[in-house]
Amino acid sequence: MQVKSLRGKDFIAISDFTKEEIVTMLDAGKALKLENARGVPHHILQDKTIFLMFYAKSLRTRNSFETGIFQMGGHANFLTTDAVYTPAMPGKEQAYATERLEDVANVLSRYGEAICIRILGDSVDWVYGAASEYMRAFAAAASVPVINMEDDVYHPCQGMADLMTMEEKLGTLEGKKVVISWAYSPSRKKPVSVPHSMMAVSSLFGAHVVFARPKGFELDPRQIKHAKDNVARYGGSFTETDDMKEAFKDADVVYPKCWPSIEFLGHPDKEVDWKAQDKLFDANKDWICDEKIMKLTNRDSIYMHCLPMDRSFEVTDAVADGPHSVIYDQAENRMHAQNGVMSIIMNG
Ligand code: CP
Repeated sequence: MQVKSLRGKDFIAISDFTKEEIVTMLDAGKALKLENARGVPHHILQDKTIFLMFYAKSLRTRNSFETGIFQMGGHANFLTTDAVYTPAMPGKEQAYATERLEDVANVLSRYGEAICIRILGDSVDWVYGAASEYMRAFAAAASVPVINMEDDVYHPCQGMADLMTMEEKLGTLEGKKVVISWAYSPSRKKPVSVPHSMMAVSSLFGAHVVFARPKGFELDPRQIKHAKDNVARYGGSFTETDDMKEAFKDADVVYPKCWPSIEFLGHPDKEVDWKAQDKLFDANKDWICDEKIMKLTNRDSIYMHCLPMDRSFEVTDAVADGPHSVIYDQAENRMHAQNGVMSIIMNG
């Protein structure tokens, strides 16, 4: 199938793209990774600037974007919200402390070639979907592509890196059992973006996607529907279970991580309920990925995590540092996968 040019398109959610478009960006990332390994200079984004605007902490995302654009001949300008007039939606503005989001988007669009944003959590009072709405508003106002470096619904850059890693390790996803599982952590302050994006990519290529979570940790029904629509179209299957052991049995990929209950996050009509989150979390402390549960998986299965991980809670050191773990390859692939995305949407 012919893929029309993606030049200038925002990269906000995996579900905004067709399967062919995702493959095009992934292939570009693989080609750039190979050229890097061969030491071939590929300054395909020579003299281009991206702005990195962070409303939340990061190790991997910031450094993989900064290094990636530098490899391609361009430049990254790092912005934190305390160093600029915080971009604000109409109605949320404070004189000389914030600046209308449209004004920021328009000004940065005059200087550079892409605007990358991470926004989630405290900056939107943990109101589910508010950060995603902000991301879309920024993209609508900007005249250059906006790249989502993680909001409260999507982490598409992580999804692309996860897809690249699974393909490298397994060859193909067709017929493979891919398990996305909740795991316990004492930290409730996390988004649900990673499992959403992992579901979106793994459901495109014929895998048997299993989503395991205790009752109360269901994901956004719209994201589940998207994954189910994908498997109906492209093959494979999608099942949901509250049995972690059953899910891990004969798995080829396991991706256990913590996320909060969407029900008890903030919503337009109610505030986040941390007490209810605590109760639900405390009732499920046994959801840990250890060597015992890994023994249920296939011999060559891979253990994945987006990092940072909560060792001793989500996973034991023996698994995180053990023979199934691909976490550092996965982290490395953030850079290559993002280079692929930037090369396509900023260049054509
Ligand atoms: N996986 C990920 O997004 O890592 P950072 O939070 O360190 O950017």
